[in-house]
Amino acid sequence: MKILMVCLGNICRSPMAEGILRSKVANAGLNVIVDSAGTGDYHVGEAPDDRAIVTAKKYGIDISELAARQFHPGDFDAFDRIYVMDSSNHRNVLQLATLDSQKAKVHRLLDVVYPGEEMEVPDPWFGGMEGFERVFEVLETACDKIVQNIDFHNIKIN
Ligand code: 4NP
Repeated sequence: MKILMVCLGNICRSPMAEGILRSKVANAGLNVIVDSAGTGDYHVGEAPDDRAIVTAKKYGIDISELAARQFHPGDFDAFDRIYVMDSSNHRNVLQLATLDSQKAKVHRLLDVVYPGEEMEVPDPWFGGMEGFERVFEVLETACDKIVQNIDFHNIKIN
């Protein structure tokens, strides 16, 4: 099972989501590959935003070594599930899909907690630390749900 988290810059929301989910699947002993990407190319190669690093670290998660990359169409083949943070990410990723099977892999992250409500993980970039804290909590709730929902029988054991 391979899961990709997607936001705009790949320096705030999706790297936190990557770190949180990676930590939870490791704790659960699940063989799940987790990665993240941004729809934009503004921050390619950069480490996550300091505020994201500090917030994650507070909860024992180290995301300081991650490097931003841009989402590309090859990700549709490389991943089983692609979770987007907001409506803009959703549109941008779907625009790159050419097959229905690719579109079917794309889900709003908060649909796992609030199905059908089209909720968004807000972009914390322009705010202060409180925004990052709030986003972390929302991401954690969603990642807990993802781990609960993983079909153990579909996980390949190496
Ligand atoms: P992210 O946040 O999509 O959660 O990584 C952003 C980071 C940078 C920018 C926008 C959003 N930016 O415009 O540079």
